[in-house]
Amino acid sequence: MPLVNMRDMLYHAYENSYAVGAFDLVSLDFLEAVIGAAERCRAPVILSVAEPHFAHYDFELMLPAIEAAAKRASIPVAIQLDHGNSLESTIKAINLGCNGVMMDASNMSLPDNINATKEVVDMAHACGIPVVGELGYVAGIEGEGAAQHPGETELTIPSQAKAYVERTGVDFLAVSIGTVQGRMKGKAKLDFTRLKQLNQTVKIPLVIHGGTGLNGDQFRRLTSLGISKINYFTGLSDIAAQTMRERIKSERTGSFTDMKQGVKEAIGEDVERCLRLWGSAGRAAEVLTQCAPWASVEHLIIYNVERMSDEQAQAMMSEGRRVLAKIPGVREVFAGQAVEEGTRYKFCWLIRFTHKAVIESYRKHPDHLDFADKLFRPFAGERISIDFQDSISAAQDLPAHIQKQAGFGIPS
Ligand code: 13P
Repeated sequence: MPLVNMRDMLYHAYENSYAVGAFDLVSLDFLEAVIGAAERCRAPVILSVAEPHFAHYDFELMLPAIEAAAKRASIPVAIQLDHGNSLESTIKAINLGCNGVMMDASNMSLPDNINATKEVVDMAHACGIPVVGELGYVAGIEGEGAAQHPGETELTIPSQAKAYVERTGVDFLAVSIGTVQGRMKGKAKLDFTRLKQLNQTVKIPLVIHGGTGLNGDQFRRLTSLGISKINYFTGLSDIAAQTMRERIKSERTGSFTDMKQGVKEAIGEDVERCLRLWGSAGRAAEVLTQCAPWASVEHLIIYNVERMSDEQAQAMMSEGRRVLAKIPGVREVFAGQAVEEGTRYKFCWLIRFTHKAVIESYRKHPDHLDFADKLFRPFAGERISIDFQDSISAAQDLPAHIQKQAGFGIPS
């Protein structure tokens, strides 16, 4: 059950003064490298997809791979949308499998930032999903040189941070204390006095953007002052590119796969270095026992229709698929007809919710009510409706004699 609740994960880090790494992924090489390094270090980890990177890959294709990697991992994992910039993109990310989202409205005025972030918090909390908000402005763009995007850094003001956290209800706060995103020039000057005040004022786990380029001492001070999540990308991207440049020098006629040999290993080494520096290495077992597993819910309805032909029922189901799949927290909508003739119930809905909180928010959602009241309930006859939560336990949790019978192979 390695997909866990990101809120529990970051509170564990906060209470134990270490930080979980959130690494932005731009290809399968990054995904395999990050998860492999976290497994080697026995560290909890956040697999992150950043909206500014969606120009480089298809987010809808990438997320199923990330979710598959998370599910087969033996260390605790969360999946987050990084730098989400609208309510729509955060809903899409949740429906595709992110169990944590960042709303980045840090370039807006304080009132606009509060309004935009609160809207996302209300939606995400109704899906059981925690939210990172950002106040103050961290200049730069991850993966690029600071000189290309000089921007004006705005440091986070503690009194504003208090109001922002209270009014938005964010679970975690990303702060600006002197880091930049992307390759920085020289050494970052971090305002630890400000960080201490912020930590004492908001009392929730804090997040740093722009992890690349900081040194061991800076990381240690950050984690001792409430930083519980460190976002990191440029360092990995630069190491990947450098590895390819070296290969190209010695393999001038090589193919694409020749050129990228060693990339995964080089990324993995840097991730491992970070996880050890940030104190998350070796924490996987504790985190697993203290975090709620992330368990989806299947909302099942089996039913018959009245005053409606099978063709009309098919049209009703296809409209349902279209409308219901967009409701926040809905992962998948299956609408089916029994394969065998003469079954007691002829039709079914099987709707997957990302979390049990969605049972309630889905029921009340205006698009669900509209569809149910106009197109479904007037024609649905006898029906059974039940919500089932995924029973995530692993085979090792079975009694030993059953494992033996089933051939799961118990260590002697
Ligand atoms: P760096 O690319 O500077 O490590 O920052 C990454 C980041 O903050 C992503 O949100």
